[in-house]
Amino acid sequence: MFQTEHGYDLVKLFRAEFELCKLKAGETAAILSSSSAPGLPGPWRYRREYVEAAFRAFADLRVAAFHIELPPIPKPVLPIGEGPLGLMTAGMGKTALGQLHSALGALKEVDFVFDLAMTLFSPELAEIVAGGPRVLICVEPPEVCTRLFPSQDLKRRLLNAQRRMEKGKMKTLRVTSTAGTDLTMEIGQYGRFVEGGYADDPSRWDAFPSGQVGCFPNDGSGEGVIVLDKGDQVVLPYMRYIGEPVKLTVKEGYIRAIDGGVDAQLMRDHLESWGDPEVYALGHQSLGLHPHARWDALGVYGWDSMGMDGRIFYGGYLLGTGPNTLGGGTRDTPCHFDIPMRNCTAKIDGEVLIDQGKIVAEDLRVKGR
Ligand SMILES: [Fe+2]
Repeated sequence: MFQTEHGYDLVKLFRAEFELCKLKAGETAAILSSSSAPGLPGPWRYRREYVEAAFRAFADLRVAAFHIELPPIPKPVLPIGEGPLGLMTAGMGKTALGQLHSALGALKEVDFVFDLAMTLFSPELAEIVAGGPRVLICVEPPEVCTRLFPSQDLKRRLLNAQRRMEKGKMKTLRVTSTAGTDLTMEIGQYGRFVEGGYADDPSRWDAFPSGQVGCFPNDGSGEGVIVLDKGDQVVLPYMRYIGEPVKLTVKEGYIRAIDGGVDAQLMRDHLESWGDPEVYALGHQSLGLHPHARWDALGVYGWDSMGMDGRIFYGGYLLGTGPNTLGGGTRDTPCHFDIPMRNCTAKIDGEVLIDQGKIVAEDLRVKGR
């Protein structure tokens, strides 16, 4: 047994997770990590104990594995004297793999990559999965991974939601709330994504844990207002609950005004600091379907978690800003806000999926909730 100080058996946890990923005897795996950099928030100092526990879990399953450790972030991301505020989002989508072709080549050769380096949004992740390996990103602490352990039922319900966001079919997504949100977007131009918590099919990447389904507005689409209410969260970039309402005015897919108190000032100044008009664009719009994820987890974990609870809590609506590369778009601006909201109503082509924070579409619901 390989037990953490809080009593979690990581080998058992990872073995169960790898079995969900359909890892079989005779397959090969790589553990990918990236060493920390000064100033990076907690979760980005990857958990070294995960490497040993993963090795043991792979061995239990008779999967041959090796470990690659990357330098923190490639140099061009952090120019001396010019580094942008917020290494979290500055490093998003950037890995050293772009400069290390032999390492990238090795990762393309295995069946499964256990990714502690967070390659999400990077072109190298797309390159790896294109050849068949499945990739599982894991950056949350043991207690979050354990409590939010995925299930096939979660995946089933996420796929049901994803079908309503089908690429190539013009649809209308409208989100409203009692706080005053009323935003309408056309969707269908870009791909949608499901993070179900495990990567079980060839060429699939996923995050452990997760439980969200998302889509992207069409180019230039998005009209209305979003009102972030007290208790809504800004998971990225600053892990904070909203203390007073913030009104975002959206026109043609871009946030054009940010009004309110200190939370509005924070958001306005942070977005402005990037000097890039694309940071104001609407990014992924996601629904949370995980029955065990908790809205109050941010208050407990802070920066010891990547905030996955907030992204995926049952009946949550997540407003993302910035990049749309995950959906196949070309907007790769590095500033990304993840803003989970409570008590929203979300409709696609008039069908109510979530009503004031309650999931009402029958095939998205957990029995009894
Ligand atoms: Fe996001």
